[in-house]
Amino acid sequence: MILGIETSCDDTSVAVLDGFTIRSLVTQSQLADHVKYGGIVPEIASRRHIATIAAVYQAALDEAGVRPADIDCVAATRGPGLSGALVVGLNFAKGLAMGLGVPLIGVNHLEAHVYATWIEREELGFPELPAVCLVVSGGHSEITIMREHGDHRLIGRTRDDAAGEAFDKVARVLGLGFPGGPAIQRLIDDDGDGSLEPFNLPRAWLEGSYDFSFSGLKTAVYRAKAGKLGPSETRRIFKDGGQRAFELGDASAHARMASGFQDAIVDVLVAKTAAAAREFEARSVIVAGGVAANRLLREKMTAAVDVPLFLPEIRLCTDNAAMVAMAGAFMLQRGEIAPAELDVDPNLPLTQ
Ligand code: KG4
Ligand code: ZN
Repeated sequence: MILGIETSCDDTSVAVLDGFTIRSLVTQSQLADHVKYGGIVPEIASRRHIATIAAVYQAALDEAGVRPADIDCVAATRGPGLSGALVVGLNFAKGLAMGLGVPLIGVNHLEAHVYATWIEREELGFPELPAVCLVVSGGHSEITIMREHGDHRLIGRTRDDAAGEAFDKVARVLGLGFPGGPAIQRLIDDDGDGSLEPFNLPRAWLEGSYDFSFSGLKTAVYRAKAGKLGPSETRRIFKDGGQRAFELGDASAHARMASGFQDAIVDVLVAKTAAAAREFEARSVIVAGGVAANRLLREKMTAAVDVPLFLPEIRLCTDNAAMVAMAGAFMLQRGEIAPAELDVDPNLPLTQ
């Protein structure tokens, strides 16, 4: 019975995991406290975590129907993330593990995203290794190869914005809410009948590399909105018109822009991941992190990879403590118990 704790960003989350099964998962989102700033404010995040973590912990125990004495191990995120936010969860976990006399595990948040794919998967089967992993969140976009548990090597990474960050920034330009990914997906879905003709936005292929670059794409949307595109760019993006409507804020022109943006991001993520899986002879592909909740990405990736594809359940794609407990379980098995002086690491990398 592993207790997981996640506080790396704006979700205070505690879970009880029994083997591969979620006994409870309680997540308190702070989004409402940050929306008015258009993004996460670190200072507010830390203070919200400290105010809510004890109640979230108690609710997770109650929902699981377990007592503190039933917990065999405490696993908490130690990075990457906001340092003040991480400190709250890790220190709560430290006190708890010490008080209960059980081991403490310090988990890498990105590795936890990958392990979301193992949760409640016993009947469907687990990913076979080596696995090529696409980890796409608000702060990271990487393709890695996982040859063994705990052994992640970098294949490619973003050179500028993370995929989720690009969704968030473009959503802001389009006047949509935060976080941007779900807002963009909703705008496209609301347009309904699937006849939406997406605008044609640029893709940075970075030939010969598995790296990504999303800032040119984001900037194209910014400049289109500001009416600052050059003539050839205008022709490429708005091939059959729509520029004026978009600049003026027309809703369906915004949906066409959102759809073009989503197509461009998804095309690149899918093509590079599928190519990496072939080159590195992966036996499975894992897509994880908040952006893995994106429906178009899930559909196109399913069609493109020729080995078994593993996607976390939608609710386990975004930040949650169940994935932290799952990653912690594998670390516990390897004896990777945290020393008493373990510190947070806001820049902890996934790969060696
Ligand atoms: O993994 P996550 O919950 O937090 C971080 O570790 O960053 O990822 C959050 C990111 C945000 O940028 C959000 O816009 C994006 O994931 N996201 C999505 C979707 N749901 C969340 N992006 C695209 N489509 C979605 N459905
Ligand atoms: Zn995350």
